[in-house]
Amino acid sequence: METHKQLTIGLFGFGVVGEGLYKVLQQTPSLKAELKKVCIRHPEKKRNAPAELFTTSKEELLEDPSINVIVEVIDDADAAFTIVSTALRNGKDVVSASKKMIAEHLEALLQLQQETGRSLLYESAACASIPVIRNLEEYYDNDLLHSIKAIVNGSTNFILTKMFEEGLDFKQALILAQQLGFAESNPKLDVEGYDAVNKWTFLLTHAYGIKAAPEEILFNGIQNIQAGDAAVARARNQQIKLVAQAQKLQDGKVAAFVLPQFVNHDDHLAFVKNEYNGVVIESGFADKQFFYGKGAGSFPTASAVLSDISALRYQYKYEYKKLYHHTPHELSNDLYLRVYVSFDNLDLIPRDQFAWIEEWHAQEERKYLVGVIAFGELKKNNWWREGNTSLILTPNPVIEDVEIRKLKKRSLELAGLV
Ligand code: HSE
Repeated sequence: METHKQLTIGLFGFGVVGEGLYKVLQQTPSLKAELKKVCIRHPEKKRNAPAELFTTSKEELLEDPSINVIVEVIDDADAAFTIVSTALRNGKDVVSASKKMIAEHLEALLQLQQETGRSLLYESAACASIPVIRNLEEYYDNDLLHSIKAIVNGSTNFILTKMFEEGLDFKQALILAQQLGFAESNPKLDVEGYDAVNKWTFLLTHAYGIKAAPEEILFNGIQNIQAGDAAVARARNQQIKLVAQAQKLQDGKVAAFVLPQFVNHDDHLAFVKNEYNGVVIESGFADKQFFYGKGAGSFPTASAVLSDISALRYQYKYEYKKLYHHTPHELSNDLYLRVYVSFDNLDLIPRDQFAWIEEWHAQEERKYLVGVIAFGELKKNNWWREGNTSLILTPNPVIEDVEIRKLKKRSLELAGLV
């Protein structure tokens, strides 16, 4: 049996990640992977590698029978999908870092892997240096995965850290994240939560067998967070983080969302600063486990790409165990969330959509409330992301439907109405 396959690589992209990978490969001769060609879009740019390595012709890589691995680390999701699907069809294994492409084409990519029998690995596409996909895929292959709570976007975490702990303003912090190579070329993808929700879609597939398009998952970014919100967090000894969360409910379905959240000072995620990412997994019998590492940047991302390349030597493939070997879980809308909402204008807050409101702070410069609202109301409506309104989840925000029904029944009983 062939155990250590000789790898000949065609690389697409020589930006922050591509160049990082080039350097990392040079420092890992034991891998015995030959980088044969690099396809780039801008030949006029100066590159820190021999000129004969580069081409602008994608066919030179995709049609070369001696290249058996395509590594794709480009920025354009549509072009990436064409490259990845052609490579798989041409019998090559693929390593990709394109989270947007994977999230948007997950169904087609699953089919292509089945049809071609080739391997598509993308550990670097979520949480960069943290081996979260392979852990979800290999370790938690049972029904005991209760919840995952994670910081999956390095740029927003970097911006929040720099703003609220080091006093930079939003623009300065974002520019720094861009200069350090953490941010997407369109930073709106980071700031408004698109990058995080893209990553969350395929992490949900590996965790729970859920196949959801990014737009099916409730999400927002950090664009509406105000200085007043950070002051509330400080007063409560909490921090604000952009948290991706998935939690199994009593009916077996899964609640999943990506929203800013107040995090208690002793929560594992409070420890995650700057461009680091963190993943807290709760599973039966094991209680909590915490994974921590750099979630963005040239070498941390390249190190995950390298690990995927290395796994191809022994023909590693994702089996998508939760999808194909277990009964896949479904997403639920039957839950409530305890939320903090700060606002300028009370008239823009539809109070009737809340199940109940627990706190009113109308005297503060920045007014806010804390209340419980049906998940479905947030999914249907947009008031909470508009008009300078900021919605932040409270710690442990999920309230199950059954608990609400019990509470309602109890209050009716107390009122003598039943
Ligand atoms: N822009 C991404 C982030 C890069 O900040 O997390 C890593 O996926």
